[in-house]
Amino acid sequence: MTAELLDLTPYGGVVADAAWRDEVRRLARERDAVLLAHNYQLPEIQDIADHTGDSLALSRIAAQSDASTIVFCGVHFMAETAKILSPDKTVLIPDARAGCSLADSITADELRAWKAEHPGAVVVSYVNTTAEVKAETDICCTSSNAVDVVASIPADREVLFLPDQFLGAHVKRVTGRENLHIWAGECHVHAGINGPELAERAAANPDADLYIHPECGCATSALYLAGEGIVPAEQVKILSTGDMVGQAKASKAKTVLVATEVGMLHQLRKAAPGVNFEAVNDRASCRYMKMITPAALLRGLRENADEVHVDPETARKARGAVQRMIEIGTPGGGE
Ligand code: 13P
Ligand code: SF4
Repeated sequence: MTAELLDLTPYGGVVADAAWRDEVRRLARERDAVLLAHNYQLPEIQDIADHTGDSLALSRIAAQSDASTIVFCGVHFMAETAKILSPDKTVLIPDARAGCSLADSITADELRAWKAEHPGAVVVSYVNTTAEVKAETDICCTSSNAVDVVASIPADREVLFLPDQFLGAHVKRVTGRENLHIWAGECHVHAGINGPELAERAAANPDADLYIHPECGCATSALYLAGEGIVPAEQVKILSTGDMVGQAKASKAKTVLVATEVGMLHQLRKAAPGVNFEAVNDRASCRYMKMITPAALLRGLRENADEVHVDPETARKARGAVQRMIEIGTPGGGE
């Protein structure tokens, strides 16, 4: 999906009031649909969903659900992953233009060329990839189980990790693995949350905990701050979005600085109303995630749109890698 060529104006003109909520719930019942929402969705979409969670949790819920239709309020690769796991179900995304700059950072052709340079390497792809890339992958992972996935691979095997360079650096740091090669992709939203900004915010709030998503450009700086004792190490936590919610529920901190997409703040504030959660960068908003508007959801349920299709042969090749992903690691938040 080439964002520059698409008109990305979201569907609008619908207010998320009580009548909207009643109509969405009625249509979901009528369609035998389960509504799933990622933690970066608009608050009103998170609140109407049956389940809100991180990528891993939502993939697992989608795979286990008895509903005949899955409405995925998230971005396209997430809905595609649900379709790969449940090819017989109808999978809808309320706006198929909701792409992902990270998933766009590697194509299947580029991956095939990279594999040819490293014969015998195990390919680990982040779930933020297209179905075609997953079809060339041995094991998929999400941010909540990337370390466990890589640790499950025999130490003497080379690993190709893609496409996120910051998550890759985090995994390399934690596993201490030298034979891990990392693709130089990034998410424009998380890459923009940078080290100097984090250091400045941490200096102004010395008692605050720091919750950092490993896709962030500032993850290395956060560990530097901890390593140098500038921020006590126990205050720095590198977490998937679901694990942030788990951490928030047990938090004793007065203030938590959150380095990830700003949609996350809604679940955190619900999970721990007594804690002051602040974004490290309040401009870190993913325009793709925010395309799932109240109007888009209503349209999707009314028109059975946008239906997600994955070529059956591509889905067959990708399924093993995605299944391995949902089998590895502790439950992601939202389950
Ligand atoms: P999580 O797997 O932590 O939910 O991360 C998600 C992400 O960046 C989706 O775009
Ligand atoms: Fe993709 Fe980044 Fe948006 Fe997540 S926040 S959907 S990785 S562009």
